Amino acid sequence: MKLSVVILAAGEGKRMHSQQPKVLQLVAGRPLLSHILSTAKDLVAEQIYVIHGYKGELLKDTFKHETNLTWVEQKERLGTGHALLQALPHIPKDHYVLVVAGDVPLTRAKTLGRLINTTLAHDAGLGLLTANLENPFGLGRIIRDMQSNILEIVEEKDATIAQKAIPEIFTGIMVARADLLHEWLPNLSNDNAQGEYYLTELPQIASRAKVKITSGEIEDKTEILGANTRQQLAQIERAYQSRLADELMSKGVTLSDPARIDIRGDITTGVDVVIDVNAVFEGSVQLGNNVTIEPNCVIRNATIGSHVRIKANTVIEGAKIGDHVDVGPFARIRPGSVLESGAKVGNFVEMKKTVLGEGSKASHLSYLGDAIIGKHVNIGAGTITCNYDGVSKHQTIIGDDVFIGSDTQLIAPVSIGYGVTVGAGSTITKDVPAGGLVLSRVEQRHHPKWKGPLQKVKLKKVVE
Ligand code: UD1
Ligand code: CA
Repeated sequence: MKLSVVILAAGEGKRMHSQQPKVLQLVAGRPLLSHILSTAKDLVAEQIYVIHGYKGELLKDTFKHETNLTWVEQKERLGTGHALLQALPHIPKDHYVLVVAGDVPLTRAKTLGRLINTTLAHDAGLGLLTANLENPFGLGRIIRDMQSNILEIVEEKDATIAQKAIPEIFTGIMVARADLLHEWLPNLSNDNAQGEYYLTELPQIASRAKVKITSGEIEDKTEILGANTRQQLAQIERAYQSRLADELMSKGVTLSDPARIDIRGDITTGVDVVIDVNAVFEGSVQLGNNVTIEPNCVIRNATIGSHVRIKANTVIEGAKIGDHVDVGPFARIRPGSVLESGAKVGNFVEMKKTVLGEGSKASHLSYLGDAIIGKHVNIGAGTITCNYDGVSKHQTIIGDDVFIGSDTQLIAPVSIGYGVTVGAGSTITKDVPAGGLVLSRVEQRHHPKWKGPLQKVKLKKVVE
């Protein structure tokens, strides 16, 4: 069996009130269309067609790295049947065609695969994915005969009161034999309440031609949620996040509240991972064993080792965190940073393109940028690597066992040799060789006879 997948995505999405085509709206950080695309890919289709309308160039550009994808423009939006017709000239007659919608992102490949298999098993010309809904309003109803054979689909706007009472609806997902589509699609009529060429006229044509129609019923209703409004988009987002949270828990991750985690990308987890509330993971994130993530952390494209504690309100991006590391609370670890095993970064520390060596600590209030910091180094509170001269960035190199006193400025490029102690409040402008104490602090002086304006006023009062 050869499969072509057609994704209907010519809808403008007026109700989103956006300048973007609807299928570029995001769910879990990815465009709606990319969700159904990856599902289609899991089905191993020969070719995937996207029927687009509005802002086609933007769409093509967004997905320019996709292979096996053919873009087909539907110049006038004359209905779902007309939309599918646009792809037809590309599709060989011996294919099966799976029709899905670009704005329905949560359908599982397993569900679609099952529908395809049922269609093949019954040697049917059409396979319809249906659902029984408590509130079927607005959707096409499945009309069956007494033997439960499908006769037709009637759209809400064309339905009689009795038909509107039918709870079984068409999900918009259909499998069809391409040879039949070649025969039938060009002959659809638009003689209906909306004056559109309905894809849903096909079952009627099939049943009249005595071509077998099968159906599969969907169990998980989130699989057919479509995003027409912001409200629906938010509902889809939560449904998807809840699936991801569930997957994590099934793998053994402890979530303080599965409703308060957001994964916008791919995450892998080791054993005994604990994630407290409001964690946001973006891009590709790897967590080792025994990792604890305290509340309100954002972790983006990062690898985190084992026995690590990310304390509350920490933001980590593009960084590698080794084993037995503590970060935060309120730390910001920016791209290119590496925290080696046993390192500790405390509150209000910002790091960028900086390696903090094994067992080294920066516990409070520092900016460490473009620096290579050795092992067992102590970075005192208020230390700043002055890495930028207004034009270029420069590097700071700190050897092993260095002690940097509080409130030190390191004017890069500069290096501090092995085991040096930098006295608090120093401004280091020149390279320091190994060992000893370096201090650039202005010597302290006391002027006991000095009087300021306040002291002068007070003395005058005493004299009077
Ligand atoms: C369609 C079905 C309805 C089904 C429902 C499920 C038809 C006539 N009706 O209704 O039976 O219950 O889906 O959600 O098919 N599109 C185009 N070009 C067009 C028209 C639509 O590409 O000319 C795309 C839309 O962007 C959308 C999809 O097709 O992704 C479905 O269109 P929509 O208007 O939402 O279909 P419904 O009227 O809701
Ligand atoms: Ca419509």
